[in-house]
Amino acid sequence: MNQLNFKTVVVTGASSGIGKAIALAFGKQGANVVVNYRNSEKEAFEVAELINKNGGNAIAIKADVSKEDEVLHLFNQAIKKYNSIDVLVCNAGIQKDNSFSEMSLEEWQKVFDVNLTGYFLCARQAIKEFSRNQTTGNKKAIGNIIFVSSVHDIIPWAGHVNYAASKGGVLMLMKSLALEVAPQKIRVNAISPGAIKTNINKEVWQDEEQAKKLLKLIPYQRIGEPEDVSEVALWLASDASDYVTGTTIYVDGGMTLYPGFVDNG
Ligand code: BGC
Repeated sequence: MNQLNFKTVVVTGASSGIGKAIALAFGKQGANVVVNYRNSEKEAFEVAELINKNGGNAIAIKADVSKEDEVLHLFNQAIKKYNSIDVLVCNAGIQKDNSFSEMSLEEWQKVFDVNLTGYFLCARQAIKEFSRNQTTGNKKAIGNIIFVSSVHDIIPWAGHVNYAASKGGVLMLMKSLALEVAPQKIRVNAISPGAIKTNINKEVWQDEEQAKKLLKLIPYQRIGEPEDVSEVALWLASDASDYVTGTTIYVDGGMTLYPGFVDNG
């Protein structure tokens, strides 16, 4: 048992970006980490190797989270290796941007399949596994789910209707599930990052002009780093936040504060 009182964590989409930072942060605390990936095998194995070198214990497992049989495989392999699971971090997500009238059904569907159905499938499996965990003497949570969502669960986003709608769905998935499983001593929360430097938005932050425009939307005046998110994930997964459930923490440098209203409106 490590400082944070959990043993095993499954992180989806952990081969890069926010998922990678979360996997590394948990690994540093001595947790067993399941590094899930879909395509980036080399990168995922590197993340697992890094964790193993730094005092943690990790395994990389391939699974497309939008496919039921692959999610079952992911959890079966994780249980086989580590016996039980205490924390699930649903993080794997995609964007397929287009103007609304040009958006194909495939672009709509694919984003929902990964960003919302993927969260459903993984969370359902985790809840089943958690129920095998014993309540500890101190009556803290027996399981913990963290959904990595987005500021676009409340900020509308033109040209990204599929993405914003899927994240809006994550918000109510999180709250409704939190309500349903609280009596079982399972906590469910979300982290909604703003603009964090990852592959998903690199066209924006790598371009000087676009990055300048982006900073106008961030009162705190810096683009976020994946570690800004992983620190919050550690806290949400720990007993220090045991009374927190059904909540979203916005990790966004103030992006959700209506930055346009800094003057008279
Ligand atoms: C998106 C990023 C975007 C950020 C802020 C995230 O959810 O994935 O592409 O930079 O929201 O708009």
